Amino acid sequence: MNKVILGIESSCDDTSAAVIRDGVLLSNVIASQKVHEAYGGVVPELASRAHQQNIIPVVHEAIRQAGISKNELSAVAFTRGPGLLGSLLVGVSFAKGLALALDVPMVDVNHLQAHVLAHFIKKDEADNSQPSFPFLCLLVSGGNSQIILVRNWNDMEVVGQTIDDAAGEAFDKCAKVIGLPYPGGPWVDKLAKEGNPDRIPLNKPHIAGYDYSFSGLKTSFLYFLRDRLQENPNYIEENKADLCASLQKTVVEILMQKLRKAAKDLNIREVAVAGGVSANSGLRKAFEEHAARYRWKIHIPPFAFTTDNAAMVAMSGYFKYLAGDFASMDCVPFSRVEI
Ligand code: KG4
Repeated sequence: MNKVILGIESSCDDTSAAVIRDGVLLSNVIASQKVHEAYGGVVPELASRAHQQNIIPVVHEAIRQAGISKNELSAVAFTRGPGLLGSLLVGVSFAKGLALALDVPMVDVNHLQAHVLAHFIKKDEADNSQPSFPFLCLLVSGGNSQIILVRNWNDMEVVGQTIDDAAGEAFDKCAKVIGLPYPGGPWVDKLAKEGNPDRIPLNKPHIAGYDYSFSGLKTSFLYFLRDRLQENPNYIEENKADLCASLQKTVVEILMQKLRKAAKDLNIREVAVAGGVSANSGLRKAFEEHAARYRWKIHIPPFAFTTDNAAMVAMSGYFKYLAGDFASMDCVPFSRVEI
């Protein structure tokens, strides 16, 4: 029998719903919240209110675009955490109400695992581009920078992670210093294309094992600019592209160095990337270069699955559904949770 899973994502500032049938994507609807732009970051209270406004039309549209009736759903999967508690509560409560009304099981999904499992979403029946186990996944977003050893759909281990800031945070905070809008990552990426990546020397951390650190890079970026601005108040305006290119090159080198080390030590050549920062063109290029040089088989997600989306939640829910791993009605969201 077909397994049709509705996924609901509301962990941060995107309200999303998606339908997956036996691993094949039928719909993926995302309502992004513009309300935060004026504040230079996500305002949690405004995010949960916007989720409340968006959730019914978004779920309705996902079911409509999938061309199914809601009575065909086998289960409702939802993001339980990590994320903003007020935002998560909206998705979790809605999932409970819908599952109860339809008399179908609920599946709680770890948002970080969902990013990894986005690589298993099939665009059609014939799509067989999914990674094989075991593989390494570099998960890089605004809140996380992790190297994950994926043994199976429901068996993952974090082998390295940031001890301070995430890679996306480093992009965003440095971008803010040079006057770029929030989130700065995509702006840095855009401007970096016109700049010289070797122009500005920035600090790289020396951390043991597979862990990351990005706070030193942020500080060195800040101090470098403070000194230059004393000599030339227009330094940022005159050198923006070079600053972006050098920053991007440094972040990508830090990320790839640890990933290379993990791949070598664990003797794994199948390597994936996930999360918002996986949209970065420099990182994508580095993956392609590593594939050629180290004979890695790489998996780079389509842009639609790099940011928060419910397709990955439905996909994760599908694997947990198959494993018979369901959530109960007293399940509550978690703001922080490990993989
Ligand atoms: O996974 P994600 O959508 O959600 C959060 O973790 O919040 O990741 C968002 C992060 C932000 O830091 C954003 O600046 C970064 O991903 N990002 C990028 C690019 N696109 C998004 N960073 C660098 N280059 C990009 N093209």
